[in-house]
Amino acid sequence: MNSVKVGLLGLGTVGQGTARVLSDNASEIARRAGRHIQVVSAAVRDVEKAEAQGFNITILTDPQAIVDDPEIDIVCELMGGIDLPLSLVLRAIDNGKHVITANKALIALHGNQIFAAAAKKGVTVAFEPAVAGGIPVIKAIREGLAANNIQWLAGIINGTGNFILTEMRNHGRDFEDVLADAQALGYAEADPTFDVEGIDAAHKLSILASIAFGIPLQFDAVYTEGISEITSKDVAYADELGYSVKHLGIARKSEEGVQMRVHPTLIPKSRLIANVDGVMNAVLVQSDAVGPTLYYGAGAGSDATASAVVADVIDVVRLLSAAPENSVPYLAFQPNELRDLTVLPPEKIVSAYYLRLQAEDKPGVMADVTRILADQGVSLKSILQKKPEGEETAEVILLTHRVEESSMNAAIDQIGALATITDKVQRIRVEALD
Ligand code: HSE
Repeated sequence: MNSVKVGLLGLGTVGQGTARVLSDNASEIARRAGRHIQVVSAAVRDVEKAEAQGFNITILTDPQAIVDDPEIDIVCELMGGIDLPLSLVLRAIDNGKHVITANKALIALHGNQIFAAAAKKGVTVAFEPAVAGGIPVIKAIREGLAANNIQWLAGIINGTGNFILTEMRNHGRDFEDVLADAQALGYAEADPTFDVEGIDAAHKLSILASIAFGIPLQFDAVYTEGISEITSKDVAYADELGYSVKHLGIARKSEEGVQMRVHPTLIPKSRLIANVDGVMNAVLVQSDAVGPTLYYGAGAGSDATASAVVADVIDVVRLLSAAPENSVPYLAFQPNELRDLTVLPPEKIVSAYYLRLQAEDKPGVMADVTRILADQGVSLKSILQKKPEGEETAEVILLTHRVEESSMNAAIDQIGALATITDKVQRIRVEALD
């Protein structure tokens, strides 16, 4: 039987990994797929640099030549960006080609349109590498947990952010200093604000929420808060109180609707996911039949992400002779079964909170603060006060019980307005994840 022909859009970190893994593991992959798989061409910006990689494939500068090439069965979009990949992916679909993409922003923003076009043409669009790099979490949720009603999931889905928070905790380093390291090590996105302000994680979370709950992709409805305001002090106080600070993406379904949020979160150190450090990713899924399951691994990197690209390629190859309606639905649920569940606004989130106040050290300050909290129905779990040697003001760290975010917002506004509170109130949400 002829080999299946693959064209790559992009031969950067993930493209090179894909060509390398398909070549290095060719015979093992063919045993699994039932056909040989061959990368025939790649479209790049810099031909000389690509040719220096030494792959035995045709290097082109025109990506359209790949999506229009009648010899190519599967197009892997590994170039990044939005507008160009969108038009190339839609054109590849129109030409009857199957598509694999590692582009989380493309799926999060335009997935609904892409899947509708693919369904019309009866082709697959697969996106395992778009979420948590090499961890097969899309497959686990879409297929492995298909028997379950998924209640919530929480993920460390940005390696750069996790690397920064881990370094801040382990070495007391400052945010900016560690970010520079993450960029030098090549973990960060081209625009690192995507990592540290939670946009990259929000792209990934909107995809996970869709396949977990059977809802259309809604990136704009994800509440997103970054880690750039987290100080090494907060990380150290959280540690002292028995918590790790993680940048979590959380999706939760309840009778009132769906929550999708990305924000720094204190998690008890006793949870497995609290111990996921460095650039590693993990996704914890709570489902009704199986209970909690945890997926852990490399969330970025050349061969790790290529592992997910190639797994998708193999899935497509196995299905080449099957009727398209028999394949796994793009977003896990049959397209006509996606539900427009209400997405709850952030004020409706119910969470526990860590608050750090910079306060004048004099009688009555705590009385004012606790009165405001009591008036808003906020109950305290623990209090820690620190007054570094030689400083005028004290730091007060409060852990609260769970309360609706609207009440906490009102309390923070009032506390922040007290004359005795000398700096912005720092607030971090706390999740027990039990
Ligand atoms: N910048 C991303 C991260 C790469 O740090 O996780 C993988 O999506």
